Amino acid sequence: MKYEKNILCIGAGYVGGPSMAMIAYKCPTCKVTVVDINHQRIAAWNSDDLPLYEPGLDAVIAATRGKNLFFGADIEAGIRENDIIFVSVNTPTKVFGVGAGMAADLQYWEKTARQILQYSQSPKIVIEKGTLPVKTALAMERILSNNKTVHFDVLSNPEFLSEGTALRDLENPDRVLIGYRDTESGIMARDTIVEIYAHWVPQERIITSSIWSSELSKLVANAFLAQRISSINAISALCERADADITEVATVVGMDSRLGNKFLNASVGFGGSCFKKDILSLVYLCRHYGLNEVADYWEGVVKINQYQNDRFIANMLSAMFNTLTGKRICLLGFAFKANTGDTRESPAIVIAGRLLEEQAEVVISDPKALKNAGADLEGIAGKISYVLDPHEAAQGCHAVAVLTEWDIYRDLDFQKIYDNMAKPAFIFDGRNILDHKRLFEIGFNVYPIGKPALTHF
Ligand SMILES: NC(=O)c1ccc[n+]([C@@H]2O[C@H](COP(=O)([O-])OP(=O)(O)OC[C@H]3O[C@@H](n4cnc5c(N)ncnc54)[C@H](O)[C@@H]3O)[C@@H](O)[C@H]2O)c1
Repeated sequence: MKYEKNILCIGAGYVGGPSMAMIAYKCPTCKVTVVDINHQRIAAWNSDDLPLYEPGLDAVIAATRGKNLFFGADIEAGIRENDIIFVSVNTPTKVFGVGAGMAADLQYWEKTARQILQYSQSPKIVIEKGTLPVKTALAMERILSNNKTVHFDVLSNPEFLSEGTALRDLENPDRVLIGYRDTESGIMARDTIVEIYAHWVPQERIITSSIWSSELSKLVANAFLAQRISSINAISALCERADADITEVATVVGMDSRLGNKFLNASVGFGGSCFKKDILSLVYLCRHYGLNEVADYWEGVVKINQYQNDRFIANMLSAMFNTLTGKRICLLGFAFKANTGDTRESPAIVIAGRLLEEQAEVVISDPKALKNAGADLEGIAGKISYVLDPHEAAQGCHAVAVLTEWDIYRDLDFQKIYDNMAKPAFIFDGRNILDHKRLFEIGFNVYPIGKPALTHF
């Protein structure tokens, strides 16, 4: 069969896999191939046990895989045979050398650029799908310009999906952003990518911009989202001291139509692979341009997040008589948010680590993230167990801490949980999803975020 477009994606991760599956699903006339250096991951994409959990992903993969969506490991052939190449490799925070702990580590991205340079024999449109520091496309162009016989157009098409709702976001995006160079071939390349999305995204939601605005917009969108969370979390600390209720405050604030009510839930802190690394990347960029005041402002968002993790542990310690030694503590949820098994930068990693330092015994429960939790805590000294069933996990515990807002936790049999716990029984609701008054009536000592504690002492 002759396809209208042959599309390659390098990087079969949380973004590459679902976003390409959606393109294949919505554009049956396009052939989409996804490649990765991680052969295990590719094998998982080709199996019934996909490498990541996202609601609705199984169905989209079932409808497309082997028809117009293919997962493979032959990167060289992929580059040769396709003329549209999305690059969706990881861009973590650098952990060595200049910029360690702040700057984006572009080694995976640069390796990909060099592979594209090496194997290309015909013109290509190369699209940055990952989140990158502004002006990274220029470096991509400079690398690719070393091939004097093949023409490359570099575009930026950052992904705005949110894990846990990735398929819904991809199918019905708030916007699709395509950054391009204002040249004849740049405009043609832009239009080619617009055509792909126009299969299902309304024209008015397909935004085109300068390539630099596009790169920067993604970083800024994540920074703003994280800032909302840190803002409400900062106020939650004040509520706890001032006997105010953060839910009531957030409701009032969110009813202002200039602000809106999204992202105003106080919690143990944000996690995920993106928010922290993208803000640190933004901070690093600002410092690079000598904008120290701007950098300090955004760095505060990350500091407040760490402070919120610290506060959670400090509250647990002080509530439980300043010692956790030998106490069994059940963590309900380990994923960084509900409806994903992803635990990257999850607050649960920090909380579990601190509890173990305090010589507590930690029992971890999560419907989708136990495998990742095991990998995250591997080698950490202390007593850790992993129990899928939350009722069983809480058995014999001194405290339960809710760290992920999984819906199933709202409807647990808390009377049964209480009956089977050591007394006094404590519950720390790090997501404010439980019925605190009811828990108190059952007999728990209840510690929400940003609200007065309900205790029997
Ligand atoms: N996870 C999210 O929610 C999200 C959302 C929007 C944007 N992003 C951005 O998208 C990008 C990818 O993120 P992710 O979460 O999908 O990362 P990921 O770690 O899940 O996936 C990246 C994949 O790229 C592969 N890879 C690395 N180097 C390669 C190479 N040279 N050739 C082939 N494959 C290679 C890795 O093996 C890995 O499977 C990042 O820049 C991230 O910031 C992520």
